[in-house]
Amino acid sequence: MAGPPIVVLSNRGPVSFSPGEGGDLEPRRGAGGLVSGLGPALVGTDATWISAAMTDGDREVAASGVVDAAGHRVRLLALDPDAYRMAYDVVCNATLWFAYHELFDRSRRPRFDRRWREAWAAYRETNEAFAAAAVETAPEGAVVLVQDYHLALVGPQLAAERPDLRTAHFSHTPFPHPEQLSVLPDDVVAELLGGMAGHGSCGFHSPRWAEAFERSTHATLGAAPPTFVSPLATDRADLEATARGDACERALERLEGALGGRRLLARVDRIELSKNLLRGFWAFDDLLERHPEWRSEVTFGAFVYPSRQTLPEYLAYHQEVEEVVRRVNERWADGDWTPILLDGDDDYPTAIAALRRYDALLVNPIRDGLNLVASEGALVNERDGVVVLSPEAGIWDQLSGGALPAHPYDVAGTADALHDALSMPSAERRRRATDLRDAAGRRSPTDWLDDQVAAALGS
Ligand code: G6P
Repeated sequence: MAGPPIVVLSNRGPVSFSPGEGGDLEPRRGAGGLVSGLGPALVGTDATWISAAMTDGDREVAASGVVDAAGHRVRLLALDPDAYRMAYDVVCNATLWFAYHELFDRSRRPRFDRRWREAWAAYRETNEAFAAAAVETAPEGAVVLVQDYHLALVGPQLAAERPDLRTAHFSHTPFPHPEQLSVLPDDVVAELLGGMAGHGSCGFHSPRWAEAFERSTHATLGAAPPTFVSPLATDRADLEATARGDACERALERLEGALGGRRLLARVDRIELSKNLLRGFWAFDDLLERHPEWRSEVTFGAFVYPSRQTLPEYLAYHQEVEEVVRRVNERWADGDWTPILLDGDDDYPTAIAALRRYDALLVNPIRDGLNLVASEGALVNERDGVVVLSPEAGIWDQLSGGALPAHPYDVAGTADALHDALSMPSAERRRRATDLRDAAGRRSPTDWLDDQVAAALGS
């Protein structure tokens, strides 16, 4: 690749190591949208990717410094496990994630007690460890691309210790309005925003998030740093290879067997509070109540798998999801028809099979930085399926021409949108599906990577 050397910093890396059948450590592709987007764009390049060691295998590999694995040059950081847990669970997942997605139930949370302050110190230490690794590893004049809310504070340290480096910070989440950010203590807001602003430029998936960030930095720091907007895109070749693969074919056959010729309303998500699963099931319940013609005719395939199960909020949400599904199924099941099929396996080919097969896809997050499920669906669907999409997802900016809107809190309105999607005449379905496919295919992960490098270089 031409241009300056690249170093990527992210909490989760492109590979994770675990013992294979022969007992040797083997790299496996890391989880999450960042890896599926950035991984193919960086594979085979000499970019260095620094991330946290997550498994015992990762910790072992961390001792070897920079290693080559699965086409990547990776450096894993073995951080103090207790400090890392505090930073990741308490600050990243239970505080910043909730603030950025406006998820706090404010009568109880957030609660900034002494333990939280210790966690904030651990978050700071984690950021320092990442910055120190980049200072040590980055070649002269490299561009350092820092990813997400886990690593908001590394910019100032890099600028002080390695002024030759160029940096950009990229947020994969929404950025909250100043009023939401103000749930955090003032000194924390100042440190967080000062940390982000200490990078050469700050990037977001949507102009809405960039604008919210600029408003907050203006209010707190007196000025906004340079920002840029660059939505990540699905890697088409990677996606199509999965869609054409044997595992996906087999999953599609299984799904067809379960559907028995019925229509499919699908969703593919982590079991994650911001994804708004409960209101999706309530909307389906409402649809079946008000439109008896859909009973036994449409099955809701929910391909949703657990995440962040160390957090009580996520465990409780998982249980609620299962409970609501049970109730809806109990209410409407008839003969061999199970209204909601809940598939909790995190199996990528199965998820892609569902995206090929859906007649309607529900993507109704409360807020979402981008949401690649909607664009993956648009690219692989084979039935002119309709996407019912929350305008609170960053991807709405690109897909609003083809998708049907669903206000995330409006259960009745979402049920209406599902009815409209399922009963839409075929000409309009085709027009919308074509529109969605064109919009989803317009950009590639390489465009996104190039935008970050250009922003870091100030061009
Ligand atoms: C989603 C978000 C990313 C975030 C990731 C973390 O993919 O869009 O912003 O980094 O979740 O998930 P994790 O399982 O690593 O906490």
